[in-house]
Amino acid sequence: MSASEPDWWRSAAIYQVYVRSFADGDGDGTGDLSGVRTRLPYLAELGVDALWFTPWYVSPLADGGYDVADYRAIDPAFGTLSEAEKLIAEARQLGIRTIVDIVPNHVSDQHVWFRAALAARPGGPERALFHFRRGRGTDGERPPNDWESEFGGPAWTRVPDGEWYLHLFAPEQPDLNWAHPAVRREHEEILRFWFERGVAGVRIDSAALLAKDAYLPDFAPGRDPHPYVDRDELHDIYRSWRAVADEYDGIFVGEVWLPDSERFARYLRPDELHTAFNLSFLACPWDAERLRRTIDETLAEHAPVGAPATWVLCNHDVTRTVTRYGREDTGFDFATKAFGTPTDLGLGTRRARAAALLSLALPGSVYVYQGEELGLPEAEIPRDRIQDPMHFRSGGTDPGRDGCRVPLPWTGAPPAAEPWLPPPADWDAYAADRQAADPDSMLTFYRRALRLRRTEPGFGDGPLTWLPHPSGVLAFARQDGLVCVVNLGADQVALPAHDSVLLTSGPLEGGGLPRDTAAWLRA
Ligand code: GLC
Repeated sequence: MSASEPDWWRSAAIYQVYVRSFADGDGDGTGDLSGVRTRLPYLAELGVDALWFTPWYVSPLADGGYDVADYRAIDPAFGTLSEAEKLIAEARQLGIRTIVDIVPNHVSDQHVWFRAALAARPGGPERALFHFRRGRGTDGERPPNDWESEFGGPAWTRVPDGEWYLHLFAPEQPDLNWAHPAVRREHEEILRFWFERGVAGVRIDSAALLAKDAYLPDFAPGRDPHPYVDRDELHDIYRSWRAVADEYDGIFVGEVWLPDSERFARYLRPDELHTAFNLSFLACPWDAERLRRTIDETLAEHAPVGAPATWVLCNHDVTRTVTRYGREDTGFDFATKAFGTPTDLGLGTRRARAAALLSLALPGSVYVYQGEELGLPEAEIPRDRIQDPMHFRSGGTDPGRDGCRVPLPWTGAPPAAEPWLPPPADWDAYAADRQAADPDSMLTFYRRALRLRRTEPGFGDGPLTWLPHPSGVLAFARQDGLVCVVNLGADQVALPAHDSVLLTSGPLEGGGLPRDTAAWLRA
């Protein structure tokens, strides 16, 4: 997987940087680009091929930066455009590519377009870039339709002159009207802007939500096509994006949450997106049968379109892996998140190590979310410090997503300034500098695994063959005699025939593979 390979993205290990919480260069409690630049050697040593930066643009941070006020400028809290350019170049010198995050479904309510729309009269052309409508009821006092925001509550907000505007997320995130040619033009220019600055790829936020039924009808369960999810018009948009990316050898990764694997695969046709996040794998419980089914379905849906699969255990929206795997319900579902869920972190950590070997051995590219390599658990954020709109719009029942966004502990020493989200009391035990010196730490383990994955050409893109295995166990072969075996059952199992053991997620017992442990073998 050398950085000069044109197909680098088919096998890449991509590290997700949540800039605000990665590394604080100027000591103000918020992560920034200078912090990332000083930690590039850490990322190179970790052995990742690319960095995906969550939005780093000018933003009032009503939704952690997914409310973009200016797609061509860096938020002053994070740095400057010229610093971003330096960062992209410095990373590239270390063999690390950059992926930026583009948010096409909505803008910030502080974006010039939306400010102009608010200042315009109802029916004015500035409003046509968004979805403004009159309300229902005698005085238009009810929203134009019954759609609900992904964060809870109605998807409409009324402005002083009486019209309503659509926002599938927070009210500070008005949805763009993708039927308007100016919206399409603008985004193609934004793509060019970042490709011109040397980025290798773009993550597309909420990629299946952009197109809306022009009549904005009520949501009728089972309505086909859905009024705003996965509409056919999207494919035309992504075909023109692909033409732009091809001019620069750029790649896309789409955030596409869709249960229907055939519909999902349509986004990955050769003239559309290169890859999309495998969110079914992320949500899958720690269960051998279910994981096997998810892996098989993933490979089967990607095969006909020739796209490589992606493997994701965690990101900035979901419960951290070691916590999720230490709970009774080891799957992920936004609907069931709750405060105070009992968690066995020892068990979760053991499983997370095994899951890392599983995901790193599967065919395709793999994502690591910052802090996953440190084994960070989900933090319980005191209610008065929570910032995530998901918490507030749930009426305070959903803990929100801040628990996986706490600034990383780099050293055991107290930080120079109070971090924007409070770290748990025991955070220093996870400090990167401590872990770097500990041969048994999660960090050392991740470094070994990523290094092996990089030096063994049998990993990454390519075929997978299941091996016979007892129930509760997953065992498969890759190329060059590489074998991955994961024991999710209750009892220790014998290792399949092999010449050598390359890496295990925990100690073997008398040559056997204990429960919740994985091994990489050479057969
Ligand atoms: C995506 C992002 C999430 C954000 C939402 C709205 O799901 O991952 O963090 O809140 O889109 O932009």
